[in-house]
Amino acid sequence: SNQFCDAGIGYSESTCGISSSLSSSKLLIKGGTVVNAHQQQIADVYVEDGVIVAVQPNIKVGDGVTLLDATGKYVMPGGIDPHTHLAMEYNGTDEFMGLKTVDDFFNGQAAALAGGTTLHIDFVIPINGSLVAGFDTYEKKAKKSCMDYGFHMAITKWDESVSKEMEIMVKEKGINSFKFFMAYKGILMIDDELLLQGLKRCKSLGALAMVHAENGDAVFEGQKRMIELGITGPEGHALSRPALLEGEATARAIRLAKFVNTPLYVVHVMSIDAMEEIAKARKSGQKVIGEPVVSGLVLDDSGLWDPDFITAAKYVMSPPIRESGHNKALQTALANGVLQLVGTDHCAYNSTQKAFGIDDFRKIPNGVNGIEERMHLIWDTMVESGQISVTDYVRITSTECARIFNIYPRKGAILVGSDADIIIFNPNSSFKISASSHHSKLDTNVYDGRKGKGKVEVTIAGGRVVWKDDELKVIPGFGKYIEMPPFSYLFNGIDKADARYLSSLKAPVKRFK
Ligand code: URP
Ligand code: ZN
Ligand code: ZN
Ligand code: ZN
Repeated sequence: SNQFCDAGIGYSESTCGISSSLSSSKLLIKGGTVVNAHQQQIADVYVEDGVIVAVQPNIKVGDGVTLLDATGKYVMPGGIDPHTHLAMEYNGTDEFMGLKTVDDFFNGQAAALAGGTTLHIDFVIPINGSLVAGFDTYEKKAKKSCMDYGFHMAITKWDESVSKEMEIMVKEKGINSFKFFMAYKGILMIDDELLLQGLKRCKSLGALAMVHAENGDAVFEGQKRMIELGITGPEGHALSRPALLEGEATARAIRLAKFVNTPLYVVHVMSIDAMEEIAKARKSGQKVIGEPVVSGLVLDDSGLWDPDFITAAKYVMSPPIRESGHNKALQTALANGVLQLVGTDHCAYNSTQKAFGIDDFRKIPNGVNGIEERMHLIWDTMVESGQISVTDYVRITSTECARIFNIYPRKGAILVGSDADIIIFNPNSSFKISASSHHSKLDTNVYDGRKGKGKVEVTIAGGRVVWKDDELKVIPGFGKYIEMPPFSYLFNGIDKADARYLSSLKAPVKRFK
């Protein structure tokens, strides 16, 4: 036994670690419908040493190859979750609260694998503003990874050294995206002047600027208003930061990104207000990416009014889960391309941690689960409902994320030469979510009791079968860090537009003094 056998993953000691038959470096997936974002076809997929080496009908192989029958099932790229917070010690409201998210890089990833996600991009939180120190810390946290992962970097303050360290992150550490906080006043929030500096810096480095878009000054006022009104429970969280404040900050960030002429990625789009700003910008040709998260797509705010504090508090996240109606509108936006990919913002705090805010919603640690549930819930909500095709499902759960973060087609595709991160999905089976059977360390689940059609029956990560017959076979340390190069496709044409702008400026007017 080793320490990881006790991590609540749900395998017995005899199967903990490597099982010889499943660790074969050669795999043949037979007879499934192979789905990529651009097309689908019935084909076999042959894998050697973690890489896809053939995709075609009727592949013949010799001995020593593990066979997986996928007849009648979909063979798809493993999910990529662009937004997670594993083992995060910062909680979003108070840097010194000392709360740490309960899912770490081993068991959070194991949960992901059980749900068909094979890669996630987590947010490195700087330490006292130092990006290098933050990166080193996350590098250590991620040593026990059982699946591949990448990093975004949060920017929590701004000065010359932060600006310098951004270059180190991009040129030496494999980070190509930075998240700026327009909320969390007094802790993480940066003002417009600093956001502009950050956008300019991102542009020069070819890194993608991401924003948490809420008006932090107004949220602060809203919180005071609720406390003065005596509304101290979880519903006060939603009431204090309404959708219009998300819409305002989204619009502002979009306009500043346009002024700088650099691409923008809006994380956790939770409202119609924010979504419509993104739609308008995209319609005008601006490069803006919108990331809804599973909670915003499938839940509504009703849970926040539950009379039981713990039940209500588990739904607290920022921006808040909105009134019913926003969820359906976000689904439509995802179906028609206004929004491009789905994350989770998996940020797991248990009941004890949530209870920290029992007398004051401002102290409830912000975050909900989803890393294990995303693939099933998005299938059920988007594909089973008839809103999107299976190829579009692959695009929004995997391919588009790989393209945006510049790791396509190594990730996000079932193509010769791609990493063997693959799921076998049975559309005729079904899933059921419960806090007692999930693989997260959480004692709650915001999707508890939900069921639907479709099931991830097999997950293959790095060429290994890690999930099959409802059993996980994961190895700490097996996951690799995926470096993300700068200047993704979103930067194509930025220089041309800049040149056009400059040449459009008339020469300075000569005036007589
Ligand atoms: O409530 C949330 N979203 N917690 C995670 C931190 C963040 O803002 O993404
Ligand atoms: Zn955020
Ligand atoms: Zn987040
Ligand atoms: Zn968030």
